[in-house]
Amino acid sequence: MREEYGHDSLTEDSVDPNPIEQFRIWFKQAMDQNVTEPNAMSLATVDENGQPWQRSVLLKAYDNNGFVFYTNYDSRKGQQLAQNPKTCVLFPWIQLERQVIVTGSVERVSTAESLKYFASRPFGSRLGAWVSQQSSVVSSRSILLAKFEEMKNKFKDGEVPLPSFWGGYRIVPETIEFWMGGKSRIHDRIFYTKQDDGSWKIERLSP
Ligand SMILES: Cc1cc2nc3c(=O)[nH]c(=O)nc-3n(C[C@H](O)[C@H](O)[C@H](O)COP(=O)(O)O)c2cc1C
Repeated sequence: MREEYGHDSLTEDSVDPNPIEQFRIWFKQAMDQNVTEPNAMSLATVDENGQPWQRSVLLKAYDNNGFVFYTNYDSRKGQQLAQNPKTCVLFPWIQLERQVIVTGSVERVSTAESLKYFASRPFGSRLGAWVSQQSSVVSSRSILLAKFEEMKNKFKDGEVPLPSFWGGYRIVPETIEFWMGGKSRIHDRIFYTKQDDGSWKIERLSP
């Protein structure tokens, strides 16, 4: 439980000036080194009482515009994001002694973009989106299974339409931190902040 980190280091000069490119490098390393579900990220939202909530979601796309995940817009997270689009996600790449933390705000991706991704999902997953009123109380598992059978029958020709309540969010980043474990707890923290002109300021934070 008390690992000595520090197999590698990260410097202001060695990182890419664009944090998305730096993320691309680290994400590839996480995949190459067989991190379990490297695209799983912990997504934080805040409710109307200021209570934070978290859950894992899967990163499905990213580029200079932001980080995209898909979910049910009526879910608890969807309702909280409608009230307060500010969010924070964390990639816990513990095996690599690394974490990446992104703060920013979400916007919904276009219906065309959601549809493209939805169509790429397996039949069962597409049905699943119709079955689950995500985050609402359900009295038993059997109700869900019955609903699944009903949907399987309804869409038996294989054409499953995109539910209006389902789609993607893009997290538009404002800050991105790359954290790497260092020897004797002298960890590296490289912190990018988006500037008004679209460029990124790079600073080192004390561990
Ligand atoms: C590894 C992992 C990946 C997940 N990916 C997603 C996802 O991409 N989208 C999603 O809606 N839920 C995903 N879930 C389920 C969520 O963690 C969560 O239970 C669900 O979205 C409901 O959250 P909410 O009630 O806060 O809205 C995932 C769970 C795990 C453990």
